[in-house]
Parts: sequence; C-alpha cells; structure tokens
Amino acid sequence: MSNIEEQTRQMQYIDLVKEVVERENERLKRRLKCAVVTFGCQMNARDSEKLTGVLREAGYEIIDEETEADFVIYNTCTVRDNANQKVYGHLGLLKSRVKKNPNLRIALCGCMMQEASVIETIREKYKFVNLVFGTHNIFKFPELLYRMLTSDSQIIDIWEDTDQIVEDLPVDRKYSFKSGINIMFGCNNFCSYCIVPYVRGRERSREPKEIIREIEKLVNEGVIEVMLLGQNVNSYGKNLDNPMSFAELLKEIEKIDGLKRIRFMTSHPKDLSDDLIEVMAKSEKICKHIHLPLQSGSDRVLKEMNRRYTKEQYLSLVEKIKKAIPDVAVTTDIIVGFPGETAADVDDTIDVIRKVHYDNAFTFIYSKRTGTPAAARPDQCDEAEVKANFDRVLNAVKEEAMIRNGYLVGRVEEALVEEINAHDDTFVTGRLSNNSMVHFKGDASLIGKLVKVNILEAKGFYYMGEMI
Ligand code: 5AD
Ligand code: SF4
Repeated sequence: MSNIEEQTRQMQYIDLVKEVVERENERLKRRLKCAVVTFGCQMNARDSEKLTGVLREAGYEIIDEETEADFVIYNTCTVRDNANQKVYGHLGLLKSRVKKNPNLRIALCGCMMQEASVIETIREKYKFVNLVFGTHNIFKFPELLYRMLTSDSQIIDIWEDTDQIVEDLPVDRKYSFKSGINIMFGCNNFCSYCIVPYVRGRERSREPKEIIREIEKLVNEGVIEVMLLGQNVNSYGKNLDNPMSFAELLKEIEKIDGLKRIRFMTSHPKDLSDDLIEVMAKSEKICKHIHLPLQSGSDRVLKEMNRRYTKEQYLSLVEKIKKAIPDVAVTTDIIVGFPGETAADVDDTIDVIRKVHYDNAFTFIYSKRTGTPAAARPDQCDEAEVKANFDRVLNAVKEEAMIRNGYLVGRVEEALVEEINAHDDTFVTGRLSNNSMVHFKGDASLIGKLVKVNILEAKGFYYMGEMI
C-alpha cells in the first residue's frame, strides 16, 4: 500500500474510533479521558504528540494525571535499563487499579516494545495490558486503537522494521510556538553499547519537500522555533532518491519566512561536515548550539565503542567549530563504565572535558543492553569503580560549566519565552540561542515571544536577567 493510501486508511479509522468514543461518552455522561506518559528522548516526545493528536481528534479529553484516566499509554524508552524499570514500576501500580476499574485500558508502545524479552514478560506477567505496539507501526495507531476498543483480547503488534514514512496524521503540539520535526528515523551506526539501531531500525530520511511543507504549515500556525530531530542528523539525505546533505536541507529551511530559530540534534562527530559548519556560521536563524556526543575520550574505548573517531579528531573538530562560530555552545553525552574501561581511560575523558569547556554534558553510567556487542563482553566494570569514575567526570563537567557559563554576563541576548517560572510566577523562563535558560521578570503575555534580555548573572547551568 502506498503511503498516501495508508494515511487515508488511518484517517478512516480515526472516524471509526470517534464513533466508539462518542457512544461511550453518552453512556458515561462524561468525556473519556486519556493520558499519554512519555519516557526518554525528544524523538519519543514528538511521537507522543502524534499519539495525542490522534486521540484528541478521536474525541478523547487529554489529561496529565494517569490516575484519573480511562486510557493510559506509556511511550517507552530502553536506552538504559533504568528506563525499563520505570515502566514496570508504573505497570505494577496500575495492577490494583485495573481490578477496581475493569473499563480502564492500557497501551504500551515505543522502543522498549521492540525487545522480544519485554514482550514475553508482558504476555506472562501483565495480561491486563490491552494494546502493545512498537516504533515501526506507530502510524497505524488509529487502526490499533480501534481494534483495542472493539476487542477483549490483548493485542500485540510488533514489526521488525519498516521503510514506510506516513505523513499528515494529526499532531497535538505541547507548545504553540516551537516544535520538533522528524527529519529522519533510525540509526545505522551500531555503536557497540547502544540498542537504538535494534529498536528504531535502519536510517530513513524524510523527503525535503515534506519537511519544508510541515515547517511552513507550523509557521502558519504560529511556530517560530523548530528542532530538527534525528539520531544522526549529519547523515541526513544519503538514502533519498535525490540525495541531499543536511547542510543543504538547513539552507532550504532557513529560507522559510516567519521562521525565527532552527535547532537540531543529534550530531555524530564522524559525519559533521565543513559545509554544515559554514552554513551555521553564516546563518541568521540556526541557534549557536551544537550537541556533539563524545561518549569517551580514550582512543581504545572509542574504537571498542565503534565510534569511528579518535580523541584528537574530536578535539580538532571542536576547535574548527569554535573558530568558525564564535560563542557557540557545545554540549555532549558521556558514558562511564563501558566494559574494560580503566581509570586511565576516564582520565582521557576528563582531559577532553577540560579542553573543550563544554557548556553542559549529560553523563551516563554504562547500562548493559542485551543483544548489543558490548553486553556480551566478559570484562564488565566493577560497580564501585564506575561510581568513583562517574563522580570524577561529573565534577569536571560542573567545574568547566561554571567557568564557561560566565561568558554571556553583561551582554544583551535574545530569549524565546517558554513559560512562567515554576518557583516564582512573577518571573518567566526563556531559552537563549545557546540553549541555556534565563529567568527574568515578566508575565504570561510574553510566552512565545522573542525578547531582548540583559544577562545579569550566571548561576551554573542557567542565567538571571532583565528584559529591556
Ligand atoms: N548505557 C549508557 N548510556 C547509553 N547511551 C546510549 N546507550 C547507552 C548505554 N547502553 C547514551 C549515549 C547516547 C545517549 C542518548 O544515551 O551517551 O548519546
Ligand atoms: Fe546509538 Fe550510536 Fe546510533 Fe547514537 S549514533 S543512536 S549512540 S548507535
């Protein structure tokens, strides 16, 4: 079936679900409520907006509190084991609620569902879950939802892979003024610790005209900032019928009238081109921020991780970026405790942290993911040693960020106001081009606006300022 036929079919299923939901609403004399609970990365957050879009279109009331909902969907993550444990924790709590409320429906989707062992566990221990689907057939959600609502048995539909990209199903955006945009799906890199290529499948890029069309539509609806999403945006476009590089795509997006800011993530250091650096340096709209996962600073560990760059190559890439784009913020991901990692390897990682002066770094303890090459290694690290090394890395990250973060103080910067400050409602919180947050006096009327802020004080990972 073509992608367009599939889209039409799914839209028809939304209408069928609508009829079921309307009947239920009448019977209950209230609206059916649904909560979508999201774990993991921005990709998952975007997928949840798609799920919510379908549910709203089908007549559900969307709520945040899962305890109040008639239907709960968990959009899961499996990049580290603690993400899986959280989902089982939630399911455990639901067990007693299902007994009290037989009308409660539960669905599971996302990366964790692509693992055979997880599906086995759900079949055995969580028979009360009504619907399970994966990452490759999320576009079939309306159809699966209809089947769930019209059947009493547990529905499990997991695909191994797909080359389909179905466009134009409803999407419910969390923010009116900014949005994530998928530009590609999947990953071909097979870093030896990472489960993503197994659960998200092979790399597939969306057609540039579809991406541009989606952004133009969003801009018409009031969006001024977009975040282009992909596991490795720097290899965008290689598998298109008419190949196009990520740098070229950015140039096209830059031309969209009314769009004010462009962000993207994630960049793999091995594929970051000189063209991209040049496009960023010249751009008025691309934000001055690059997320460049290092993972490790040790050449031996990098090789065993299958990252395909060395410490020196990474450092010279950062140098090139910083030279071409003054004030660019560089952030990273680091893993501590990869099998066979020694304290000397961690010294190399810390050396890179000291040399790059990251604006921020996300540091993770290595998590063994069944099915990845690293999980089969006999030399898994000692937990106490990993903890000690992790603390050393974290301290280095904090110290460097403190030193680095002062650089904006005294300057006037543009901030996109995102929300009322959570601690003091006379303040608002805005995001700077470099992705840092700044807090300043203001009210709800500023939300969604780009304003000029005098940066008064650096507070570690955020700033205090005043609007001018
Ligand atoms: N253990 C710990 N961290 C991991 N990441 C990916 N796989 C693992 C794992 N098995 C981290 C990497 C990646 C980020 C999204 O998650 O740092 O960049
Ligand atoms: Fe995982 Fe590596 Fe792909 Fe990132 S690039 S998703 S770390 S395999």
